[in-house]
Amino acid sequence: MGALATRHVLGIQDLSAEEIGLVLDTAQSFKEVNERTIKKLPTLRGRTIINLFLEPSTRTRTSFEIAAKRLSADSVNMSGSASATVKGESLVDTAKTLDAMNADLVVIRHTMAGSPQILARHMRASIINGGDGKHQHPTQALLDLFTLREHFGGFEGLRVGMVGDIAHSRVAGSLLPALSMLGAQTTVVAPPTLLPARPEALGTRVSYSLDEVLPELDVVYLLRVQQERLEGAPLPSLREYALLFGLDLARLALMHRDAIIMHPGPINRGVELSSEAADAANNLLLSQVTAGVAVRMALLYLLLGGEDDGAAA
Ligand code: CP
Repeated sequence: MGALATRHVLGIQDLSAEEIGLVLDTAQSFKEVNERTIKKLPTLRGRTIINLFLEPSTRTRTSFEIAAKRLSADSVNMSGSASATVKGESLVDTAKTLDAMNADLVVIRHTMAGSPQILARHMRASIINGGDGKHQHPTQALLDLFTLREHFGGFEGLRVGMVGDIAHSRVAGSLLPALSMLGAQTTVVAPPTLLPARPEALGTRVSYSLDEVLPELDVVYLLRVQQERLEGAPLPSLREYALLFGLDLARLALMHRDAIIMHPGPINRGVELSSEAADAANNLLLSQVTAGVAVRMALLYLLLGGEDDGAAA
């Protein structure tokens, strides 16, 4: 098994196309381990991993914790409400404090874009970005790539439509460049108020009509409407958004037979997806969650240089 050139995964740009391939191959081995009755490997015994989650999370936090435990690392979970950040401790001082405890790796989720870079400057540990504000969510991109490769076999020419809040989405911030790097054809579909000021700079096709593009897509990737990040009322109402950009029964019928639905979660039922679309057979949302554990195990393994016990060969 090879290694990564980087010590940190602060953004998807830290990984080359070859390194993304290595992460996905390694994750494939760990996915098989995760399907066994006994899912634990001794690979990272004695290593200390801190999950510093200063913004809510279900999928990312739980899957990093499961990943660390399955590799026998010692993992510690810190949340915003239970940490000294509520007493006014700065992120730099938090970083120096955790560094003094000799952590080997820190996963950070934070409302502030650039927070993983701050930790990387002030700690000796490897840092993984678990989602920083509106900026990036590289491990979400990697698990999405894993899911796509598992389903379609590769990325070249794959037609992926990303629908919704592109302007505020850290998922889009990591996944769109990764898909372009790997040869997929991307289209963003959104009202102008949910697109960045210069959408053409994303290097993707831009559409304002979901109905127009649906029949030609292999992948319909719906983004969550992030009400916590919307300022200045860019949407008339959630009902109006659902009417124009939500995937419902009528729009399911417009998709071609082999197309799939993806969403990073958590979903707003009745907004991005009707209940029928949320539970449709071609919705891979739970496959994405399963991939999340394997991909995060792969990253911990590759960044911490776990001893090769043969299980992940
Ligand atoms: N997709 C994602 O990051 O979900 P969580 O906010 O639950 O971690």
